[in-house]
Amino acid sequence: MDMERVQAIAFSFMTEGRIPPEFIRSEKEQPAITTLHGYDPQIPTIDFSDPDEDSLTRLIAEASRDWGMFQIVNHGIPTHVINNLQKVGEDFFALPQVEKELYAKPPDSKSIEGYGTRLQKEEEGKRAWVDHLFHKIWPPSAINYQFWPKNPPSYRDANEVYAKCLRGVADKLFSRLSVGLGLGEKELRESVGGDELTYLLKINYYPPCPRPDLALGVVAHTDMSAITILVPNHVQGLQLFRDDHWFDVKYIPNALVIHIGDQLEILSNGKYKSVLHRTTVKKDMTRMSWPVFLEPPPELAIGPLPKLTSEDNPPKYKKKRYCDYVYCKLNKIPQ
Ligand code: SIN
Ligand code: FE2
Repeated sequence: MDMERVQAIAFSFMTEGRIPPEFIRSEKEQPAITTLHGYDPQIPTIDFSDPDEDSLTRLIAEASRDWGMFQIVNHGIPTHVINNLQKVGEDFFALPQVEKELYAKPPDSKSIEGYGTRLQKEEEGKRAWVDHLFHKIWPPSAINYQFWPKNPPSYRDANEVYAKCLRGVADKLFSRLSVGLGLGEKELRESVGGDELTYLLKINYYPPCPRPDLALGVVAHTDMSAITILVPNHVQGLQLFRDDHWFDVKYIPNALVIHIGDQLEILSNGKYKSVLHRTTVKKDMTRMSWPVFLEPPPELAIGPLPKLTSEDNPPKYKKKRYCDYVYCKLNKIPQ
């Protein structure tokens, strides 16, 4: 069995009550020490079906400015579409390891797509308690079906239907966020690539962990995307950093979690915030999540929108091609 995969490690340590040392976080990061309980500021929950567009714009703009993360309910994606997306993802991760490895990210590939585990060690040489599958789901010209599981057989259909529904939500989000900046409805979406905007799906698979007090799923980060739209399973695990503390984001059935990504913070010259978040894991439950990263095309240069800067509000960020931004961030080169 391939012991690089956290799923395999979790299986072999199931009854041990301990985890390999490379998964034990430093005291600065251990969730049991660093999570604040009892006083839970909650990210806004927004009714996306609000027919009053001005009110919806205001709520979304305020949430993006004050929190950088919010949940939307009544978003219009049918429950069965989301359930199918989840079911086929669960079925994929339940396949024997050898079958999952057929979709492994090729070692020489420059793209992030494929099944994998983050091996590149983080600072302090620690590892994250999570495996993943990455593949693009939109636009059709960007899709590499070699990374879409053929098993379960309905994998492709479930993902295509979800991608179609998600486009409606993404377009509406962009238009409200655009108006919230004082721009025309279409301007923000155009400035992240318009129809060339790519939808990159990630499935996070967090197996049960014998020491959830010591390990982390995904470590603290902000998303590089323009916007991220995330479906979680029912197992709580997402945390947000605010006022110097980590807080649990509550699980709301059928809600979508929206993250403002770095590119929107840059375009808005800091008005909208990309917020630090991380995930914790559970002892007896498998957590999964399905974020879709809405990303500009690689060659597109993103900087503060000229309309949003002035002498009094000079650009706070450099203009940079998205691919260069990603390269610098992954290699920890200051932006
Ligand atoms: C992530 O931010 O990469 C994962 C979030 C989640 O699993 O909820
Ligand atoms: Fe994230």
